[in-house]
Amino acid sequence: MSVRKLAIVLAAFGATGIAASIAGPSVSAQSPASLEAGRIYFRNNCAACHSVEPGKESGFAPNLFGLGGRLSGSGPGGGSKALVDAKIAWNQETLQSFLADPAGLAPGTSMVISVTNPGDRSALVFYLLSSK
Ligand code: HEC
Repeated sequence: MSVRKLAIVLAAFGATGIAASIAGPSVSAQSPASLEAGRIYFRNNCAACHSVEPGKESGFAPNLFGLGGRLSGSGPGGGSKALVDAKIAWNQETLQSFLADPAGLAPGTSMVISVTNPGDRSALVFYLLSSK
């Protein structure tokens, strides 16, 4: 783990504090620090395939702008039949489980990247849901 990534992880945990880490990953700290950690995590791990800028198509993976509240595969750029058929309404809980194990929630999806660290995942979900 690079020093930089470690700093991000520590920032995410530092912001959530002891109480949140006992309560579990669904209690994410909705602080500027975790928003920033999510933004950096996205840039380093997701932005090669996805954009969060409105109207910007990658041509390869769906644009994730305004993800909160919409159904899987229904955004501009669409998605595979597997993603559309899964009919997932994106919110904090569904994004948490999808990012932990995409194929577990949408069997057959071509999104194969998972985020195993709960602190990274919480920060990332907070960041994604803030793009609206
Ligand atoms: C190697 C390319 C690639 C990377 C890296 C990647 N994804 Fe994906 N992602 C995809 C593809 C392709 C799809 C469409 C899947 C389908 O249609 O079955 C997708 C779908 C999704 C969806 C569903 C979108 C919708 O409109 O329903 C979400 C949410 C998502 N990815 C989040 C992420 C996050 C967060 C990251 C970073 C941790 C990430 N992805 C990294 C390729 C990628």
